[in-house]
Amino acid sequence: KFVPPGEVTGSHDLTAAVGMGKLCPIIVSTTPIDGQKPGTSGLRKKVKEFMQENYLENFVQSTFDAVKASGTDVTKGSLVIGGDGRYFNDKAIQTIIKMGVANGVKRFWIGQDGLLSTPAVSAVIRERGPGWQSAFGAFILTASHNPGGPDEDFGIKYNGEHGQPAPEKVTDEIYANTCSIKSYKICKDFPTIDVSIPGTTNVKADDGSSEVNVEVISATDNHVELLKSIFDFPAIKALLDRKDFTMVYDTMYGVNGPYAKKVFVEELGQPEEICMNATPMDDFNGGHADPNLTYAKELVAKMGLDRNGMKIDVPAGSKIPDFGAAADGDGDRNMILGKQFFVSPSDSLAVIVANADAIPFFRTQGGLKGVARSMPTSGAVDLVAKDLNYSLFETPTGWKYFGNLMDSKELFGGEDYTPFICGEESFGTGSNHVREKDGIWAVLAWLQILAVANPDATQPLTTVEDIVTAHWRKYGRNYYSRWDFEGVDKVKATAMIDKMRSDAEANTGKTVGKYKIAKADDFTYVDPVDGSVSKNQGIRFLMEDGSRIIFRLSGTAGSGATVRMYIEQYEPEKIDMVASEALGDLIRIALDLCDINGFLGTEEPTVIT
Ligand code: G6P
Ligand code: ZN
Repeated sequence: KFVPPGEVTGSHDLTAAVGMGKLCPIIVSTTPIDGQKPGTSGLRKKVKEFMQENYLENFVQSTFDAVKASGTDVTKGSLVIGGDGRYFNDKAIQTIIKMGVANGVKRFWIGQDGLLSTPAVSAVIRERGPGWQSAFGAFILTASHNPGGPDEDFGIKYNGEHGQPAPEKVTDEIYANTCSIKSYKICKDFPTIDVSIPGTTNVKADDGSSEVNVEVISATDNHVELLKSIFDFPAIKALLDRKDFTMVYDTMYGVNGPYAKKVFVEELGQPEEICMNATPMDDFNGGHADPNLTYAKELVAKMGLDRNGMKIDVPAGSKIPDFGAAADGDGDRNMILGKQFFVSPSDSLAVIVANADAIPFFRTQGGLKGVARSMPTSGAVDLVAKDLNYSLFETPTGWKYFGNLMDSKELFGGEDYTPFICGEESFGTGSNHVREKDGIWAVLAWLQILAVANPDATQPLTTVEDIVTAHWRKYGRNYYSRWDFEGVDKVKATAMIDKMRSDAEANTGKTVGKYKIAKADDFTYVDPVDGSVSKNQGIRFLMEDGSRIIFRLSGTAGSGATVRMYIEQYEPEKIDMVASEALGDLIRIALDLCDINGFLGTEEPTVIT
């Protein structure tokens, strides 16, 4: 049934409609919906908000329009869709397919059961081919480590042709589009795809003029093949086969379970028990799939630790694994633990960089060249980079800043391929094998380092703690702690940050306790590749002795605001202190400098990592 042009509600697109049958696009009129601005990592809102009429559709159409405007031809190549399996994933996938067809996409790759971890999406985009078929981009359906379920969060983000998160100029355009959108396109008659079975569905226009292929692909194959090409799996297997070595990997009912099983059970021949909570659930079993000492409670207890990362007394004879790791909902984060030993993400990054030659991927490419960390991440990795002569970059929080560095030929003498490792204090670590952080990559990197440190199975085990302690002995220790104040008043929190920004100049040169503030500022980043400037990335108090106090507002907070306070103190020799004690003075000074009590009426953080 055709309606005259101009009347858009539910009408067929007259120019495209004749003879299109199931591929016939319909134009549906809509109006802008407030608040669709993508944050640090895509748009994240409550499921209920996403399920409102036109909410998802407005955002998806705005994304297609921005992607096309940035020069991508969506009619060539494949569009990847997959997510962390949270509630509403299944419905959103079908909507995006139907809208994709209406917007001209001819090929889709959908992760089986709708699942694809965030790093796996990046791997699929980069690795799956050939040529004309390879992917031009992806929709990733995830709210990362935020809780899932009908009353919790859903999220969506777009990644581009190198597997990287959409850059700010694209996300800004998406947002602008959501503010002016009048209609969206959808093929309502396109069949619903059964995503549980691998295989291809071909849908033809009635008149044969056009065809769309939707292929349900293995969620794990491309990523796991890539990991096998990076690490020495036989050496890791030899370590795991040792009678005196046990490990557990807690994937917290998130998407990484199937990847963990494929790697550890299928490829490395280990017992299933290694993989804890490895069946993805749409509400993460009611938990908070965030790999840190507070939320990965079950694993932390199993490893003989408390929520501060301190050893707890365990009954004599209890068997604590030698290695423990956890992942978040979408599989890009990692936490690394030894037997009764917590490795802070900043230290983990520094140790991996210091031992990069243990990993064939770097060794065979002539060695690591570039290293990057986000500004609030501790300077532990800086010491290694300086020692081993790697280029070092300090970026704002957010993985997208790393991609530009990795893809730059200019920064690294015109080479196509730059061996690169980067990481953040927020439990993210990765390399240039993909353009997202990669949880299982970090786990395998540690196992590879352990394997190289333990070449002889008849010798006593060199442990995670041994490796980290030796590292501190060589480089000194950057004591580090992050305090989060979640769910605080946004206006008041912003006022607190504003005050520190305007006082920055006056604070420079002041003495606070035993520290002298060498410089106070609000971090500005100038991208060395394209010269783009990112301002207001966090208040820094840089002390004369190298210690740092940093404040910023989270860019991923669900409701209200989250203040993050980061404390770092470097000790060249005293490496055996308890972190909370080593940092006691500096924490007191930080609380006074920001006057969080005055602004927000509290000095009690909700999470300490
Ligand atoms: C996501 C991003 C990271 C970022 C983290 C915390 O995981 O991918 O790059 O470090 O969120 O961001 P936030 O703004 O909440 O501190
Ligand atoms: Zn994540």
